[in-house]
Amino acid sequence: MTRDDSDPRETDGKTRTDDEGARQASPDGSPESGDSGTDQALPDGGASAEGADDVALDPWGSSTISDYRKLFEEFGIEEFDEVLPEVPNPHYLMRRGVIFGHRDYTPVADAMREGDDFAVLSGFMPTGDPHIGHKLVFDEIIWHQRQGGDAYGLIADLEAHSARGLSWEEIDEHARDYVLSLLALGFDPEEGELYRQSDNRTLQELAFELGSKANFSEFQGIYGFDGETNVSHMQSVVTQMADILYPQLEEPKPTVIPVGPDQDPHVRFARDLAARMRFFKVTEAYASFELTDAERSIVAAAYEAREEFAEDPEMPRCGEAAEWVADVDVSELDVDVTVETAVESVVEKLENAGMEPLRPRVRFLDANATEEAFEALIESVEGEKRRYEEHIDAFDLSASEAEELAREVELQNGGYGFLPPSSIYHRFMTGLTGGKMSSSIPASHISLLDDPQEGFDKVKSATTGGRETAEKQRELGGKADECPVYELYAYLLSGDDDEFAKRVYDECVGGERLCGGCKEQAAILMEEFLEEHQEKREEAEAMLEEMDISLESDRRGVAPGDD
Ligand code: TRP
Ligand code: SF4
Repeated sequence: MTRDDSDPRETDGKTRTDDEGARQASPDGSPESGDSGTDQALPDGGASAEGADDVALDPWGSSTISDYRKLFEEFGIEEFDEVLPEVPNPHYLMRRGVIFGHRDYTPVADAMREGDDFAVLSGFMPTGDPHIGHKLVFDEIIWHQRQGGDAYGLIADLEAHSARGLSWEEIDEHARDYVLSLLALGFDPEEGELYRQSDNRTLQELAFELGSKANFSEFQGIYGFDGETNVSHMQSVVTQMADILYPQLEEPKPTVIPVGPDQDPHVRFARDLAARMRFFKVTEAYASFELTDAERSIVAAAYEAREEFAEDPEMPRCGEAAEWVADVDVSELDVDVTVETAVESVVEKLENAGMEPLRPRVRFLDANATEEAFEALIESVEGEKRRYEEHIDAFDLSASEAEELAREVELQNGGYGFLPPSSIYHRFMTGLTGGKMSSSIPASHISLLDDPQEGFDKVKSATTGGRETAEKQRELGGKADECPVYELYAYLLSGDDDEFAKRVYDECVGGERLCGGCKEQAAILMEEFLEEHQEKREEAEAMLEEMDISLESDRRGVAPGDD
């Protein structure tokens, strides 16, 4: 997994390894001498394994993620490494495995490569100062903007007020800081859009429409809401659903939502709602009855084998196919073994259809279409077609042509035509004091507003993955995989310079690098970063004036308690 294939540009002052004063390895490392391996990519769970809980994904909880692998197995998040080769000039957070997972990122990567429209959007709850964990997301938005995406950043003030109990005053103060840092890091406000949830009327209209497709029991199931949950909190959820689909209001387009994995429930729900809003559902069928995906793969295999069982292979009958499926050894077919369980239901469906011909077709099911939209669709289907009460079968269209047509007709008839939004997930940073990086523990994180000297000091007093003595460190090497300081290098301080990050890693695990000097170097880089960032924030102040984001809300009202 070692990724050192970057272009070796920009090695300026950062490449020095000043080990002066590095006589003494940090005494605060873990005493066990576990084998830390030589894999430079980040370990599962970083150094946060201690006391970590399980993987329940709760957007308002405080859970750390102890085992990223479970996210793949239990929640169906896919590994980012698998799409990495499709991404042009991947960001260093992608190359280094900090961005570890995704949902459906391929359409975004395709659009990027082909110069098609796509968008990126993420949101920030203004509950405290923006810190280096938020910087990951800022960078992800900005990178996608530079790749040609329409970029959106939003202040989740309704959520902060209703779910976290912040007053409007506190929210205003923090909102400004998020916007300034995003601008300072390179967000282009002329090309992109920044907004607050509370004063975006278009967003609220969309939220209202989406709310009509969601119900309370889903809120219970997904978020654990109950009879005590305040209603504004629920409104903030449909608002977030609207945020996620907002970039597609002008026109449907692949959209990526860069977030931490705790936000995955929101992403899944938004993908669901996007589908529920569609006028038509396009499926593939072989006869009048509907099929599940598993059933369909069996029927497809039967159709392919029609020469074997049909009296007239030009017109195989469902009944004939039923017999064939009942007799065939499914494990011999080119279908997933997990579909074997579908055999029985397939046989039944085929038997019931009897003499009906078995014939592939695409089907447009009427999900939400108006009468006019349904009529318009029938009109525009080319080739042979058959119309039913609630669906249309088309015999000369491919599935993708049918998808495209369905979207077109929907858009022309007052629908949204949403594509399911995609997401990418980054690892949470380990706190500088070990454990979780948390806004409420100042020493655990570095705020983007911290005085540079304070940033320097926090790095200097950080926990490390070092051995108890310098001697041991030379002998055994440090545990970079469990070191919050190494994380700082990998996530932030090395910037785009993979070689530098790799060198720090190799020197650490090889025992050449001692924690004192390593922290000193990191502290200097952090100080420089903060100095520069804060200068840029000042420059960004001027931009703020020109933008039409309101940083003073005239809202009134006491925040509800935190739920
Ligand atoms: N819920 C997010 C958080 O807790 C903030 C947020 C609101 C958001 N709307 C969004 C994130 C849309 C991504 C996309 O930080
Ligand atoms: Fe020590 Fe640096 Fe290695 Fe961390 S990365 S264990 S601070 S030498």
